[in-house]
Amino acid sequence: MCSVRHLVHSRWSCYLNKSLSVSSQARLFSTSRMCRTVMPAWVIDKYGSNDVLRFTKNASFPIIDFPNEVIVKVFAAGLNPLDVSMRGGYGAATLSMKRDPVNIKRSGSEFPLILGRDVSGVIMECGLDVKYFRERDEVWAAIPPWKQGSLAEFVVLSANEVSHKPKSLNHTQAAAIPYVATTAWSALVNTGGLSKDNCANKRILILGGSGGVGTFAIQMLKAWGAHVTVTCSQNAEQFVKGLGADHVVDYTSGPVEEPLSALEKFDLILDNVGGDTERWALNLLKPWSGAKYVTLVTPFLQNTDMLGIADGMMQSAATMATKALKHLIKGVHYRWGFYAPSGPALDEIREMVDAGQIQAVVDETFNFSQVPQAFEKVEKGHARGKTVVQISKGGDDL
Ligand SMILES: NC(=O)c1ccc[n+]([C@@H]2O[C@H](COP(=O)([O-])OP(=O)(O)OC[C@H]3O[C@@H](n4cnc5c(N)ncnc54)[C@H](OP(=O)(O)O)[C@@H]3O)[C@@H](O)[C@H]2O)c1
Repeated sequence: MCSVRHLVHSRWSCYLNKSLSVSSQARLFSTSRMCRTVMPAWVIDKYGSNDVLRFTKNASFPIIDFPNEVIVKVFAAGLNPLDVSMRGGYGAATLSMKRDPVNIKRSGSEFPLILGRDVSGVIMECGLDVKYFRERDEVWAAIPPWKQGSLAEFVVLSANEVSHKPKSLNHTQAAAIPYVATTAWSALVNTGGLSKDNCANKRILILGGSGGVGTFAIQMLKAWGAHVTVTCSQNAEQFVKGLGADHVVDYTSGPVEEPLSALEKFDLILDNVGGDTERWALNLLKPWSGAKYVTLVTPFLQNTDMLGIADGMMQSAATMATKALKHLIKGVHYRWGFYAPSGPALDEIREMVDAGQIQAVVDETFNFSQVPQAFEKVEKGHARGKTVVQISKGGDDL
């Protein structure tokens, strides 16, 4: 897909070289910030529970700082467990370092902070080096956790993080996908080594299959021909089967390791649950065959929050290396998976969505005035897919 983006870049360069008039050249240098300096947004001014969420009409309007950035008008924003955790300060040490690597700003300079990691909307403005997108393009994106989020009228992103929205989805549906999709993609493809070409008949186990990441992962793996076993609560069984799961094990009716160990062994396990699953899950993998356990529940950010950046990272590296080695000598691979925003990954996912292989699973939709209720909903857990907030209407299909 990078090459497709590259081709389009070149095509746009030619087009622009041929057709840029003096007035449109001037347009490239003019920006919307001359018109607007503030926008509506939900912000937090300190970490805490739901009462730290504050609506303001005076959040800073995003600015294009780099020539490869775009400003997106947000039509819909997805909420995830990560937003609830970040509201409470989760990951603050690492994310502050990413925002301010040389540590010149005072503590708390991230506030007012805007949460929301999924966006579906329309490009309002492009930086000078952006060739793959034009103003008015409908796009979707997963937003890196150190950037201002999508619970606002506008958000600024690198063009590399943005992708054209699937035509078959409206903005509400599209906002349900990017965060969970790029997380599942990163865990299964980048970390787990799976692809559409090597998945056929592989046996995959998804621990925690009925939530946001799980519902996306089931569909992607089924589209690639894998055999998918899922754990979830009994009342989600029909739901995950409807998404394509081949075999479902109810974790509420007793320890799941017993029924799971009676099954044929697996090529890959995606763990969305964590806790004590590591104690037994790796025994379910086929030994000495390249089988991998990829967990999304890692101590990486907690370690840096508790111990500081240097000690926290060393602690994480030591934990990771010890566990990887312990399991390697038993013939299986132990890995940590992470959320990794990526426009090119979303380009590939768009093709699967528009081909009807993946559907958006929206659990509940809220409007912009109901953001605290949307957080409560996510915080309660046991979601069947994603919680989405409709931010603004106009020219779209909300
Ligand atoms: N490392 C990273 O960068 C990263 C990125 C994204 C997500 N994550 C983590 O990955 C996990 C999943 O994220 P998500 O967005 O899919 O969360 P989610 O939407 O809240 O879904 C979690 C699901 O897990 C199920 N569940 C809870 N306990 C379970 C158990 N013991 N066995 C089986 N299923 C269980 C629940 O389903 P039922 O209602 O059926 O009980 C729930 O729907 C979270 O812990 C999240 O923090 C990490």
